[in-house]
Amino acid sequence: MLDMKKAKKLVVGNWKMNPMTLDEAKKIVTGVRKVVKGVKKTEVVICPPYLYIQPLSSLAKDGLHLGAQNANSNTTGPLTGEVSHMQLPQFNVRYVIVGHSERRKMGETDEKLNRKVLSIVGIGMTAIVCIGEETRDSNGDYLEFIKQQILKALNGIAKKSLDNIIIAYEPVWAVGGKEAMTPIDLHEMSIYIKKVLKDTFSIAGDGVRVIYGGAVDKFNAQSLMKDGNVSGFLVGRQSLDAGSFSEIIKAVDTQ
Ligand code: PGA
Repeated sequence: MLDMKKAKKLVVGNWKMNPMTLDEAKKIVTGVRKVVKGVKKTEVVICPPYLYIQPLSSLAKDGLHLGAQNANSNTTGPLTGEVSHMQLPQFNVRYVIVGHSERRKMGETDEKLNRKVLSIVGIGMTAIVCIGEETRDSNGDYLEFIKQQILKALNGIAKKSLDNIIIAYEPVWAVGGKEAMTPIDLHEMSIYIKKVLKDTFSIAGDGVRVIYGGAVDKFNAQSLMKDGNVSGFLVGRQSLDAGSFSEIIKAVDTQ
């Protein structure tokens, strides 16, 4: 089990379907690498579109890692347009985002997502499992919704594999929006998520890293980190700007 005092923090950049050219992609990575070299306590992961993974793989070293934004849980076969999780490690990919709200909207069900988590963890890669409610209600029903998302995503996962799971809490209403949630609300949610994990897997201590995503920027990163009770961030838009992303990495590393 992870010793959370020693476990590294994590900043993941989710580039989505950006940038338009490989040249731009290389420039961002080169910029981010400058900061990553001085970072001690934080793992930095960039998740580019598949096409850019191979040309970027030689730049992914010295604390900078590559991740995929999705992966098919099958090994190989007649699945037009898909990329197998088994095809990723040869390109230095160690992390895969699964269950992002944008992919859930495209039809990724809890069952499909669970198969992906099992296959990714099964070959020793790390699954960044996205969860998050669409809206909040005053009865707290969203808490049960979050619990069910966790239980379904991690169904069949052995306790010893939890080191290869990262929970990315991304309230859908904050993703792509103007404002992140408040550090106090985030603190409450991360306690709840950790409690669900503890009860489910009977683990002591924190056990699993929980990160936050949704409108993280260089201005709010510090307070979300300080008071939000999370191990880092999943960053969308601001990961496409080497300067801003670097500031976010520094804010996490110095916390
Ligand atoms: P955002 O996206 O940082 O642009 O809000 C976060 C995400 O989609 O993971």
